Amino acid sequence: MKKRVGVLISGTGSNMKALVSAGREAASLFEVVCVASNKVDAGGIAWAREQGIATQVINHKDFATREAFDTALNVYLQSQRLDLIACAGFMRIMTPVLITPWAGRMLNIHPSLLPKYKGLHTHQRAIDAGDKEAGCSVHFVTAELDGGAVIAQVRVPILAGETAETLAARVLVEEHKLYPEVLSDVTSLI
Ligand code: GAR
Repeated sequence: MKKRVGVLISGTGSNMKALVSAGREAASLFEVVCVASNKVDAGGIAWAREQGIATQVINHKDFATREAFDTALNVYLQSQRLDLIACAGFMRIMTPVLITPWAGRMLNIHPSLLPKYKGLHTHQRAIDAGDKEAGCSVHFVTAELDGGAVIAQVRVPILAGETAETLAARVLVEEHKLYPEVLSDVTSLI
């Protein structure tokens, strides 16, 4: 049986779509069974719903504390009997309330060559620093923001005249290939 994966998003969800599509291949070891968002207007939620995938929106603004939001999200994720969680553009700082129950089973994709450029504006920071290359990393989620063990990375050269937008677009293409590959590899180990 395919391993059950839940995906967390906050926006467009292009990485989520790449995971859904990879999971639908007959030989895939995993399938995306639910998509959850902290944003009511996350574009990816409407798409997932149209695809017949279980969706859940839990608006973080409805909660007084990070822990209260994380508790509600964790209750939903536990109810889905998931083997793994893939954060894909989930723009929330998570607390141990959410992270600890999924330790070793929660992955994230980050648009930098970690440990460089944790947090936001990764591409602009790489350009401003004069770096010759940027990229993306898939890592395990731990309580340290973007700090868990890196599983795999892809490097992308920074070209002359590059802007954060052009670089982000080229890195995103690589994210869509890397994340399904890593999820498949991790799935085969659990
Ligand atoms: C992706 O580039 C992802 O790596 C990044 O947000 C984008 C989401 O795009 N994630 C982070 O910055 C997490 N710190 P998507 O919604 O189209 O997948």
